[in-house]
Amino acid sequence: MDSVNNNEKELWIGDEKFIPFLSEEEIQKRNAELGKEISNEYRSKLPIFIGVLNGSFIFMSDLMKNININCEIDFFKLSSYGDEKISSGRVRLVKELNADIRDRHIIIVEDIVDTGLSIKYIEELIMEHKPASMKVVTLLLKPDSLKYDVKIDYIGFKIPNKFVIGYGLDYAQKYRNLRSIYVLSE
Ligand code: IMP
Repeated sequence: MDSVNNNEKELWIGDEKFIPFLSEEEIQKRNAELGKEISNEYRSKLPIFIGVLNGSFIFMSDLMKNININCEIDFFKLSSYGDEKISSGRVRLVKELNADIRDRHIIIVEDIVDTGLSIKYIEELIMEHKPASMKVVTLLLKPDSLKYDVKIDYIGFKIPNKFVIGYGLDYAQKYRNLRSIYVLSE
């Protein structure tokens, strides 16, 4: 049986080689910085953090531990990429919000913004509910891959247009449980 999460130097998935890209330490250090920045900006408010499932579940959990003000959380679930490494160009809502977000301060939490399609779709959905404000935090952004006009307010890391896995990010639904992020080596 394959084993993962052993702090491997490299990870083979079939004949594709993935190499370490962002370590646990680098990610956690950035999470602490993001948490501090967001907490300071929302100190007088009661924001709702809205995670975009599935990918954001690990980042959201670690980010929230660095938020030191009162806040609430909720989740959206979008249909996934399928089993491919490239976007299908389609997004579908699978789980709606439970919270009433009218007049609330919303912070959307994404794992990665690639073309920007998902975040644009979510922003439009949220704006229909007339929140008081809306910002976006993403752990990763691929600037060279953006196709939609979206404003990302807090960015963990800007990364090249390469396929990454781990720390919530999947390849055909697997490898989300890796503690660090690996990139496809070409
Ligand atoms: P977008 O809608 O094109 O911005 O893509 C956003 C979604 O695509 C993310 O939430 C991920 O699920 C997925 N995605 C984009 N790039 C990668 C990657 O490099 N690895 C794994 N998933 C990715």
